Amino acid sequence: MPLTAENLRVRCAEEMSHHPRGFNGCGWLRDAFLTVPREHFVPDRVWWPARGEDGRYRLYDRVRQPRAWLKAVYLPGVPLITQIDDGSVAPTGPADGAFTSSISAPGAVVELLRHLAPEPGHTVLEIGTGTGYTTALLAHRAGADHVTTLEIDARLAHHARTRLHALGLRPHAITGDGEHGHPPRAPYDRILATASVRTVPPAWLDQLRPGGLLLAPLDTPFGHDLLLRLEADGVGQAHGRFVAPVEFMRTRAQRTPRPYADLGWPPDVTRDQWQHLHVTVGPAGQRIRHALAP
Ligand SMILES: C[S@@+](CC[C@H](N)C(=O)[O-])C[C@H]1O[C@@H](n2cnc3c(N)ncnc32)[C@H](O)[C@@H]1O
Repeated sequence: MPLTAENLRVRCAEEMSHHPRGFNGCGWLRDAFLTVPREHFVPDRVWWPARGEDGRYRLYDRVRQPRAWLKAVYLPGVPLITQIDDGSVAPTGPADGAFTSSISAPGAVVELLRHLAPEPGHTVLEIGTGTGYTTALLAHRAGADHVTTLEIDARLAHHARTRLHALGLRPHAITGDGEHGHPPRAPYDRILATASVRTVPPAWLDQLRPGGLLLAPLDTPFGHDLLLRLEADGVGQAHGRFVAPVEFMRTRAQRTPRPYADLGWPPDVTRDQWQHLHVTVGPAGQRIRHALAP
């Protein structure tokens, strides 16, 4: 089979179809994945997300290594790093530093969107546009005009808009701090954060329609994030559970660790209990408790 983007996309979709955390029978999501050209959203130079033998992150260059670059784009479990240290490191060679933007792995994006379950015509708010790839999948499902996406980094936001426009997609792609949401287009049926938080920002709840769903990676005491799925109850609170272990980079304002007791976590919680935790978020803040606790 020749190494083309189309062939790799089909192969990647096949691999994810057989994975329990993949499409899991979700037909619209498979269609969206096969329709949106992921390679269009990946910058020409990206870093591999694990350290090489020299302790640095290897660079993949589309011009110099077109085959390796394209293969990396379609590996189901691999995110590609598009920014280090808020853009202060130029993508000119192997590098070290903190990851501050990426194109999430195909498998991670599919898992997010499957749990988000957007429907045609839903109003959707995405926090963390990054490359614009997830935005394009959302636009495919909900309709571009129903999608609002916020990116805090002006340069990334500009490139994402350019890539989306080149495909004829014109969602409301805005440069700004996603922790404030975007009131002019609220309420939203769905809110998706593709950057993780330690506490759910109150603005997201305020802007979620009653019965609407919010999906966000939440920092936990377990050494990784968990994907939180909350439903708005229409009287000021949202309730839900964790649906999957994930790993995302933090929103800019929530990078500094805080004591978990201050973030609503019970003191005696253990890693194996994550599927039995119940989360409530409301005006009084965030509260996480064992599902059977009073
Ligand atoms: C994992 S990347 C998003 C990947 C993206 N969904 C994609 O498909 O390419 C997380 C993004 O969140 C952005 N971000 C961090 N804090 C933010 C904030 N407060 N508001 C909006 N975007 C933020 C980062 O700049 C980064 O681009």
